[in-house]
Amino acid sequence: KNVNYLSLTRVHCGPQVSPHSTDMTFRTERRVPRLGVMLVGWGGNNGTTVTAAVLANKLGLTWTTKTGEKKANYYGSLLQASTVCLGSGLHGEVNVLLRDLLPMVHPNDIVFDGWDISSMDLGRAMERAQVLDWSLQEQLRPHMCHIKPRPSIYIPDFIAANQESRADNVLTGSMSQQVEQIKADIRDFRQSSCVDKVIVLWTANTERFCDIIPGVNDTAENLLASIQAGVEEVSPSTLFAVASIQEGCAYINGSPQNTFVPGAVELAVQQGVFIGGDDLKSGQTKIKSVLVDFLISTGIKPTSIVSYNHLGNNDGKNLMAPQQFRSKEISKSNVLDDMVRSNPVLYQPGEKPDHCVVIKYVPFVGDSKRAMDEYTSEIMMGGLNTLVLHNTCEDSLLASPILLDLVILTELCQRITVRPEGDEDFQSFHSVLALLAFLCKAPLVPPGSPVVNAFFSQRACIENIMRACLGLPPQNHMLLEHKLQ
Ligand code: NAI
Repeated sequence: KNVNYLSLTRVHCGPQVSPHSTDMTFRTERRVPRLGVMLVGWGGNNGTTVTAAVLANKLGLTWTTKTGEKKANYYGSLLQASTVCLGSGLHGEVNVLLRDLLPMVHPNDIVFDGWDISSMDLGRAMERAQVLDWSLQEQLRPHMCHIKPRPSIYIPDFIAANQESRADNVLTGSMSQQVEQIKADIRDFRQSSCVDKVIVLWTANTERFCDIIPGVNDTAENLLASIQAGVEEVSPSTLFAVASIQEGCAYINGSPQNTFVPGAVELAVQQGVFIGGDDLKSGQTKIKSVLVDFLISTGIKPTSIVSYNHLGNNDGKNLMAPQQFRSKEISKSNVLDDMVRSNPVLYQPGEKPDHCVVIKYVPFVGDSKRAMDEYTSEIMMGGLNTLVLHNTCEDSLLASPILLDLVILTELCQRITVRPEGDEDFQSFHSVLALLAFLCKAPLVPPGSPVVNAFFSQRACIENIMRACLGLPPQNHMLLEHKLQ
C-alpha cells in the first residue's frame, strides 16, 4: 500500500482570488491482478485486431512487408508507448513510460473472451477485417482459428438493417433470460480462465440512440423492471452494461450510443462499479481536441470546422443508416464545447463555431479510413486562417491500443482510493470514471461535473493523478530551477 499527500487548490473568483487547499491522501493497492477482458463485438475489426496484436506482442512476432521487417509493438498506446517527465536529474530530464509509474497490468498478460452476433472464428474474422499484413495473419491464424465468440444479444432495431446477414450467433429467450446468460458467461469465463477480475468493453456496432423514457430507463429500478418486462426501448449495449454491473465488472462503452441511460448510471453508482465511455477517441476527433485546444488557447477564433470521412469497413457500412450515423454525429459534435466556453473574449455566451461532420461508406478503402478537415479561424483585424488536413490510416490500428489503455487504466483505478483531509475513510473515484476522457470522444462524467475535451488537459489529468499516487506534485512545467540565476 502506498500512502501519499497532495494539496488541491480551489480558487474562488471575484474581485479577489483566494486560494483554498485540501490535502488528499492517495492509496494504491500494489498487487496487479490477472485481468480478463470480455469484448462485445469480438469478431469485428477492433475485436480481432486487438486480440491479434496482443498475441503478436506476446509471441514476439516479426513479419516482412515490402518495406522490410516489422516487429509487434504497442505504438499508439498512451500507457505503453508514451512517457512522462519526472523531473530534472544530473544528466537532464528523466522520462519514463507511463506504464512504469505505477504497478499495472501489462497488455501481454490480458486474457480475452467475448461475444459476437457473427459466429465466425477469430482467425477468419481477422482475415475478414483486412487490417493486418497477410504474413502476420498467417502466423497468427493457428492461434486464433479455434476461438469462437459466445452467442450475443441481437435486437435488429438497434443497428443497421445491413448487419442482419452477420447475425448467425444470437441468444434466444426473454430479455431477462438473455441478461442472465450474459452474467453466466462472465462467471464461466472468470472461473475457467482463472482471472481475478473481468472488465467488459462494448466494441460492437454503433447502435441508434435510445429514447429516455420516464418509467422505462430513467432510474435503476425502472430499468430493471423494463428488462423483466422485455420493454423494447432497452438496447443490447445497455443489457450488457446491466449484466456487467450486476456481476461487479466495470463496463466501458467504446461506441457512440447512449448506453448509459440514467437508470444504468444509477445502477452502477448503487453497486459501486466503474462505467466509462463513450466512443473511442482515435483519429479525427483526437486531432480536433488538439487543434482547437491549440487555436483557442493561443487566442485565435475557430469559426468553421468541417469534417469529411470515408471508410469501407463494416463500421462504415453500419453507419450508412441514418440513425446509427446520428449517434456518431452526436458523439463527434460536442468536442469543442469546453474549449469554446473557456474563452469569453472570442465567443459570446451561446456562440459556437459552425461544426459539420460527414461520413460516407466507400468499400474499396476498407479499414483505411480517410478523414479530411477544414478549420477556418478568425485572426487579428478580420484576417482568416484556414487549415486543411488529410489523414489516412487503419482505423482499427488506432483503436486497438486505446482499447488496451481503457481497460488497463480502469483496472488501475479500481486499486486507487483517496481520502480527503478530515474524512475518516478512503473512497474510490466516482463510478462514472471521468479519468478515461482522454480516450473517449464524448466523455461520460459524473452528473454535474464539467466535461473536459481539451487534449492537453485530459492528458495532464491522467499524468497528475498517477503522480499523486506516487506522492509527486502535479507537473507544472515551470522549470523554475532553470529560470533563476
Ligand atoms: P465492426 O463492424 O468491424 O465490428 C463490430 C462487431 O460487432 C461485428 O463483428 C458485429 O458482428 C458485432 N456486433 C454487432 N452487434 C452486436 C451485438 N449486439 N452483440 C455482439 N456483437 C455484435 O466495427 P469496428 O470497426 O470493430 O468498430 C466497433 C465499434 O467501435 C463501432 O461502434 C465503431 O464506431 C467504434 N469505434 C471504432 C473506432 C476505430 O477507430 N476503429 C474509433 C471509434 C469508435
